[in-house]
Amino acid sequence: MKTFKGRTAVITGAASGFGLEVSRIAAREGMNVVMADVQQDALARAAAEITALGAQVLPFRLDVSNGAEVEALGAATVERFGAPHFVFNNAGVSAGGLIWESSPKDWEWVLGVNLMGVVHGVRVFTPMMLAAAQKDAAYEGHIVNTASMAGLLNPPTMGVYNVSKHAVVSLSETLYQDLSLVTDQVTASVLCPFFVPTAITESQRNRPADMTEDRPLTRGQQVVQAMSSKAVSSGKVTAAQVAQFVFDALAARRFYIYSHPKALATVQTRLEDVMQARNPSDPFAGKPEIGAQLRAAFRAT
Ligand SMILES: NC(=O)c1ccc[n+]([C@@H]2O[C@H](COP(=O)([O-])OP(=O)(O)OC[C@H]3O[C@@H](n4cnc5c(N)ncnc54)[C@H](O)[C@@H]3O)[C@@H](O)[C@H]2O)c1
Repeated sequence: MKTFKGRTAVITGAASGFGLEVSRIAAREGMNVVMADVQQDALARAAAEITALGAQVLPFRLDVSNGAEVEALGAATVERFGAPHFVFNNAGVSAGGLIWESSPKDWEWVLGVNLMGVVHGVRVFTPMMLAAAQKDAAYEGHIVNTASMAGLLNPPTMGVYNVSKHAVVSLSETLYQDLSLVTDQVTASVLCPFFVPTAITESQRNRPADMTEDRPLTRGQQVVQAMSSKAVSSGKVTAAQVAQFVFDALAARRFYIYSHPKALATVQTRLEDVMQARNPSDPFAGKPEIGAQLRAAFRAT
């Protein structure tokens, strides 16, 4: 997609981080912007900012893990702007800890938002984009799903998140192939960022009460939270740059969108492990001090 002006973007997780930065570029490009998020106050602030840039904005409060609410988002989008041209299934949350310490509520919450949110976005918006393509030979549609480098790697202490993001990569690759069978006018991409400073490490702010454990974090979860906050906050690539990479990929019809291409060396090592039936390589081979720190924290009595 090379033309953005007058077209419509639907963005989930639009109140913060990548979603807000993509909303900013969409507005500057002259798109109508449907901004969807679970956090009402942040959404209202973000929508006011994007409106002030001159865009037509439809703010929509929803929980993407709820299929009926995503269907309502689809209906509201069509009513206001017609079928969208760019759908960014991006809302996500993170939770860490040793995999056996993750509770059923951890699994339900993270898979609900990170995976089912994308599932609902794809099942609601793809049919309307295909219908628009059939009616108009000039129509172009592009769906971008946010996964992570954790969708291509399996770093320790991030099990629930890794599983959710691998599933999003799988869903997105399949979506790309399925779309290629039926049309050339609608395509898909997957965004796989590495550590980028956003509010992702404060995801618990939007965790529903009925998905919250009635117990303090385990020691393992505390260790992981401290380390991942440090890794995310010290990331050098900005969310605004990542948003620009997304728009560059739309224009180039590029499927894989990376924020840190150099980190792909670790993906290659993992794929070589798979191909050679080699046991999983040490994920900290390049930064042994981090592995040593983690082992020391977990093995200390
Ligand atoms: N920042 C990173 O280092 C990084 C790396 C890889 C992948 N990601 C992914 O990027 C995406 C965007 O995250 P971010 O880094 O911009 O974080 P962020 O916390 O700044 O933004 C996420 C947004 O999603 C919203 N959200 C959370 N739960 C929701 C729900 N149930 N329904 C609707 N909206 C919901 C939040 O309110 C927030 O506005 C996520 O899918 C995340 O997993 C982030």
